[in-house]
Parts: sequence; structure tokens; C-alpha cells
Amino acid sequence: MLVLGIETSCDETAAAVLLDGTELLSSIVSDQIKIHSKYGGIVPELAGRSHIECIHPVIEQAIEEAGVTLKDIDLIAATMGPGLVASLLVGLNTAKGIAYALKKPLLGVNHLEGHLLAIFLEEPVEFPFVALAVSGGHTELYRVDGFGKYRILGRTRDDAAGESFDKVAKMLKFGYPGGPVIEAKARSGDPDAHRFPRALLGNGSLDFSFSGLKTSVRNLLAKRERGERLDISDTDISAGFQEAVIDVLVTKLMRACEQEELKRIVVSGGVAANGALRERVTLVGEDLGMKTYFPKPVYCTDNAAMIACAGYYRCRDNPLSGDNPLSLDASACLALDS
Ligand code: KG4
Ligand code: ZN
Repeated sequence: MLVLGIETSCDETAAAVLLDGTELLSSIVSDQIKIHSKYGGIVPELAGRSHIECIHPVIEQAIEEAGVTLKDIDLIAATMGPGLVASLLVGLNTAKGIAYALKKPLLGVNHLEGHLLAIFLEEPVEFPFVALAVSGGHTELYRVDGFGKYRILGRTRDDAAGESFDKVAKMLKFGYPGGPVIEAKARSGDPDAHRFPRALLGNGSLDFSFSGLKTSVRNLLAKRERGERLDISDTDISAGFQEAVIDVLVTKLMRACEQEELKRIVVSGGVAANGALRERVTLVGEDLGMKTYFPKPVYCTDNAAMIACAGYYRCRDNPLSGDNPLSLDASACLALDS
């Protein structure tokens, strides 16, 4: 089955062609970093406009690199939520146009399902497992019992982990996106120069909170501006902040595994590209006899290969519903829990 994946939930315009769930024939990602970096975050209206300009060239390139034609495609899988509505609408409506013109089936895919299943592009993982989806918009723990079988265990009550990287980077004037810059700066900083708070939210909670950590960085920077903490550098702040995020993510992840009595972990989403997080999860996991999986960094950040992959498994395991795909609607807060 040849699947065309289309992803435009946030600030990446992406298209990919996937054969039988695992053979990736092409994956094109066009980011908008240049457009948003001067604002220190995504401007939804600009994101939507840029998707409109990029979506057709990106799809054409994906089809060409795959060495196929649109007529060869068996299924179109497009992200329908969650995400920015102005962005989602561009990919979804383009997908509808192609599906209608060429009489192809179309599936609306949940972006988070794409993140959770991205690992299957590279290797199969035995069910059940605990998955941490950690990105710019989400920090969520799931129990995954099979394709399409997801139970939410915990989620952030305020900022997502990636969002906190971006906001702290903005405060430090590092530009957008913040995750990769903070990771690079943290390498030469001392994580113990200042201890930032870890919000563990009481015994047994699998929810997250990152807004207090962000405020704590802001307060420290204010002290430094007043000349009170001149001993602390931007690299130290980056290292201390990253350490606090990782401590919380890893503590909750291991707590979830204990609660669910599971020994397989998948970590995905943009923040899962972070080398220090990958290293810590691997080390702690090894100590506890767990098997840990991370997609390659290019499949952690937003891409359409993971959307094609989620579309493939849904279509493989369930006959397509007779619903008119042209009635699919973008949904900013689409839930994954089933
Ligand atoms: O999954 P993604 O591409 O988009 C969303 O679905 O949100 O994630 C983007 C997020 C951004 O907040 C970015 O700062 C963060 O992932 N990120 C990282 C790293 N690379 C990307 N965070 C920490 N370390 C990284 N290396
Ligand atoms: Zn994402």
C-alpha cells in the first residue's frame, strides 16, 4: 500500500511517501524557522500563509523523489489535529482536493498518533509499551496497547516541555526554536550552578507542570540584571534548566512504567531529539531492565512520514469507513485517548 502523508499542524510543511508502512520512499520537510525566529515563537497567521505557499511544491517534491505519480497513491493520510487551525486547514484541504480530483481514499490522522508511531518507521516495538510524547505543543504519557489503542496516563497542566525550552530561549535571546540552542549551550554549562524547581505534583501524579520552572528562570534573570547573580552564565542557566526538565520527564516516565508494570518505553516528539534526554532515559532504563526506543531525531520533530505511518496502520487494521472524507474538519484540540 502506497501512502501519501501530509503534515501541516504547526510550522513545518511536510509530505512523505511510504510503502507498506516501513519503506520510506521520500520525506520532505520545509520549516519556517526564518519566518518565526525574529518573534521568538510561532505567529499562527504567518504559519498558515507560508503553508499555502509551500504545500504544493513540497508534495510535488515528495512524489518526484519517491519515483511515483499521484495516480499510484493508494491512500492519503493528512493531519487533522491537534494543532494550529490556520495551519491544519492548509494540509487537510489540499489533501481533500487531491482525494476528490483523483478519487483516492483520505484519512484524517491525529498528529500525536503520528508521534507515537514514528518509531515503527524504523523498527517494530512489541505492545504494550509506555510512550512519552514530548513536543512544542504536548507533554503526554500514554499506555499503548496496540495500533489505535491509546490510554492517557498523564499530561501537562500548563506549558508543554518544548514550549518551556522555547520560552526560556526567548528570555535568553537565543532565538526560535529554543530546544536545539539550549541543548548546545547546556553542553558547556554547569547544571549545578543553580538548582531550578522540579514540579512533581505530589505522590503518584503522572501530570506535568513547567510554568513554575519558566518563572523561576525569569526571576533569576531579573536578579542577574539587578547585579545580584552575576556569577551565573547563560550556559549555566541552560544546563540547569535542561537538567530540571529531564529530571521531571524521566521521573514521571519511570513512575508510569512502574504503575503500568511495563518495561518498554518509546519517547517521541521534538524534545525527544534532545541528546541529554535520550542519554538519561537510556541509562535509567538500562538500570531498571527496560527497553527504550527513540525515533531518529528527524522523525522526532514534525514530519509527514509519521503521519503516513499512522495512516497505514489504521487503514491496514480497519476497513475505511464509508464517511465522506470531504466532511473531515480540522480540530485544534483533537484528543487521542480511545
Ligand atoms: O514535535 P515538534 O517538531 O512540533 C510539535 O508538535 O510541537 O516539536 C517542536 C518542539 C519545539 O518546542 C522545540 O524547541 C523542541 O521541540 N525541540 C527540542 C529539541 N529539538 C526540538 N527540545 C529540546 N532539545 C532539542 N534538541
Ligand atoms: Zn509534533
